[in-house]
Amino acid sequence: MWLAGWLMAPVSAADAALTDGAADASALIAAGRKTAGFCANYHGQSGLSKYPDVPNLAGQNPAYLLRQLDAFAAGRRRNDFMEGLVKMLSADDRAAVVAYYASLPVTPSRAAPGPGAEAGGRAFAQICAPCHGKDALGGNEFPRLAGQQSEYLRINLMRYLHPTKERSYGPMTAAVMRLGEDKIDAVVDYLSSLDVPRD
Ligand code: HEC
Repeated sequence: MWLAGWLMAPVSAADAALTDGAADASALIAAGRKTAGFCANYHGQSGLSKYPDVPNLAGQNPAYLLRQLDAFAAGRRRNDFMEGLVKMLSADDRAAVVAYYASLPVTPSRAAPGPGAEAGGRAFAQICAPCHGKDALGGNEFPRLAGQQSEYLRINLMRYLHPTKERSYGPMTAAVMRLGEDKIDAVVDYLSSLDVPRD
């Protein structure tokens, strides 16, 4: 199973401690379901966000999610609320909650594609697909974008374009510069309506 592969290859010290005792992914997922109670107010117990500017976590790639939790804990990705919350979670809690959300199915945040979806799809195929995959499913450290909340996508693309402590990653800055600020909406229209299964 895809999750087992991830568990066999720990991506950070945070999950290394857990891997020994985690032969059984279903036990890990069950533990993560409980921890997800802390996250459910915003991200939804099913991983489908209740707010357009808060990301869906369902079906997100576990290696990527765990890295983001570690980044919040270390203050490399700034958000007061997330930083406070993540620090309350042990390394085991973090790995479990990531495994839980990663195991859930995704539905697109928008039922119908927005007006720019076609042009956005073309730009995505050219500039973004080499890293995020042709179906925007990502993989390992590349986040899944398919079906993500539109406002969350827009806010984060703007953050990469003008990096601050809230978010910065050089290759993403370069990619959004290549895309151009005026095409951000089109790419968001495309991504938020994608309905592609994870596997
Ligand atoms: C060179 C590889 C690469 C390219 C090209 C690239 N990305 Fe990314 N992208 C990444 C990585 C790695 C991350 C995670 C970075 C981080 O830790 O903040 C990311 C993060 C993101 C995020 C944040 C996702 C989330 O869940 O918070 C969005 C949105 C995104 N990329 C969209 C795009 C779009 C749209 C394009 C094309 C214009 C693109 N990316 C091109 C590698 C890439």
